[in-house]
Amino acid sequence: MNSKEAFKPALIGGIELKNRFVRSATSDPIAENNAPSQEIINKYEKLCEGELGLIIMGYLVFSKTDHYSEKDLSMNNDTISGFKKVTDMAHNYGTKIVAQLNHNSTQLFFKPEGNVYGPSEYTDPVSGIMATAFSKEQIHELIKEYGQAAACAKDAGFDGVQLHAAHGYMLNKFLSPVFNKRTDEYGGDLERRMQIVIDILREIKNVCGSDFPVGIKLNSSDFDSEDKGVNEADFLVISENLSLKGINSIEVSGGTLAGVYSFSRAKKHSAYHFASAKRLSEIITTSVILVGGLRDVDEIETILNDTNIAAVSLSRPLIRELDLVKRWMNGDRSKAKCVACNGCFNHKGVQCFFTLSKEEQDVQRPVMKMMQSNN
Ligand SMILES: Cc1cc2nc3c(=O)[nH]c(=O)nc-3n(C[C@H](O)[C@H](O)[C@H](O)COP(=O)(O)O)c2cc1C
Repeated sequence: MNSKEAFKPALIGGIELKNRFVRSATSDPIAENNAPSQEIINKYEKLCEGELGLIIMGYLVFSKTDHYSEKDLSMNNDTISGFKKVTDMAHNYGTKIVAQLNHNSTQLFFKPEGNVYGPSEYTDPVSGIMATAFSKEQIHELIKEYGQAAACAKDAGFDGVQLHAAHGYMLNKFLSPVFNKRTDEYGGDLERRMQIVIDILREIKNVCGSDFPVGIKLNSSDFDSEDKGVNEADFLVISENLSLKGINSIEVSGGTLAGVYSFSRAKKHSAYHFASAKRLSEIITTSVILVGGLRDVDEIETILNDTNIAAVSLSRPLIRELDLVKRWMNGDRSKAKCVACNGCFNHKGVQCFFTLSKEEQDVQRPVMKMMQSNN
């Protein structure tokens, strides 16, 4: 009954895909004035040539309350025409493309001037930045900003949007009792901590139409050292609730940069969120997408055939081999070459460590070591 063919078309998250392979959002801070640079367009063209069913574009910022530079991609009225070049190109290759909307909150890699907003007051474990709590009016404004950004994404030709609610960014922090200590309707028990996500989902559907696909990336667990953040039981409740409210897909991830496990685990080579994604796929009918550690096409086919998981999503393997899915499709089924060294986290632009020159590798090595440290 579950039998699904990985390389055949399928309806996933409200979008017709030519196969069940997704490129998971992978940010690349090489924008020009917040719009896709030629270098970004060229990378995305190579990904499209690689026969992906769906690309989730690396996270796009949009809020007045957020901090970012002109090198970060931002979804707003001024950048619509730049993104249109990417979506048109993807569609010419038969690849669908979704915009991931994100608010950094306090998870920044620089110290900005002025207030840095979060659900309540706390010190960010990654940046050391002290959060200023959003006022209720600011939250209402933020919800509207999500709607406007989604409308821009729709105008730019994206096939849908994905809310980034994982990995320690803003929506993940709203879901977590560690960072969300609010006492109004946006904090308290789990139902209230997820209220902002539900309001954003409703706003986007109101603005863009109920048939405009909205997905979400969630942590199956924050894997924080004290186990006080989002855990698997919370994740299942949040997911079920969102499913009832009309979310179109849930990408199952986990971990933060401060936790026991990172979302991009170093040197792990098999599907490390499989158990949580499988459990979720047994209780909801919404499309479940599995990400993290997928390197082996035999394993991927078994996962798709033996469970209700609808699709698989890959990030680092597609940095090393942009044409990986095409290679597998054409019969070379050897494992992805990515060894999960995490040398691809490069603030000058995402690039596989093994394609860097010796000198560049030496510069990159300390960042790579840091990105390996929480596994
Ligand atoms: C360089 C880099 C940038 C990333 N950027 C994003 C991002 O913008 N949004 C997101 O949700 N995840 C991001 N991720 C996490 C990946 O989407 C993915 O969840 C994680 O790497 C595990 O999948 P993998 O084993 O296939 O790499 C990024 C990962 C890497 C390596």
